[in-house]
Amino acid sequence: MILIVAVIAAALGISACGYGEQGLAVKSGEPDYNGAVLFAQHCSGCHTLSAAGTQGSGNRGERTQGPNLNQREESPEDVIFAIQNGGFSGAIMPQNIVVGHDAEEVAEFVAKYAGSEAQESPRPGEETGPAAP
Ligand code: HEC
Repeated sequence: MILIVAVIAAALGISACGYGEQGLAVKSGEPDYNGAVLFAQHCSGCHTLSAAGTQGSGNRGERTQGPNLNQREESPEDVIFAIQNGGFSGAIMPQNIVVGHDAEEVAEFVAKYAGSEAQESPRPGEETGPAAP
């Protein structure tokens, strides 16, 4: 619980500094907008994802730093799994930060926008994303 409060405080601090909703790549009214807002509110403290205008905690080597989602391809199922289980290892990321329909919206948003800078080859059957620089 203390951790969650700290995370919310961190997220609020981030938006006060100019990140957060202002940086959303998704416009109000688009299907992924709620997911983007929820991600910016709940996940941005630990994860970088450009489409949500979030920087995570940067490259400061903090123990709670989650993977940079610009560099990861994620499926909605993987994101739901990570939300419910606290990441893939269950070690650091809090479980069930968002639940139910909110979790589904976040998963759809992340799956659509994650991996914009992914270096690995796409999974079989997937389109190749934007070319890496
Ligand atoms: C307190 C920090 C923290 C918060 C908040 C957080 N995460 Fe994480 N997350 C992590 C860490 C650390 C990992 C990597 C360790 C692991 O997988 O167990 C991770 C892993 C993940 C992964 C797996 C990435 C991969 O490819 O390995 C996904 C997806 C993910 N998080 C999504 C989310 C979403 C969506 C939210 C918001 C609902 C969120 N995270 C909130 C710290 C956090």
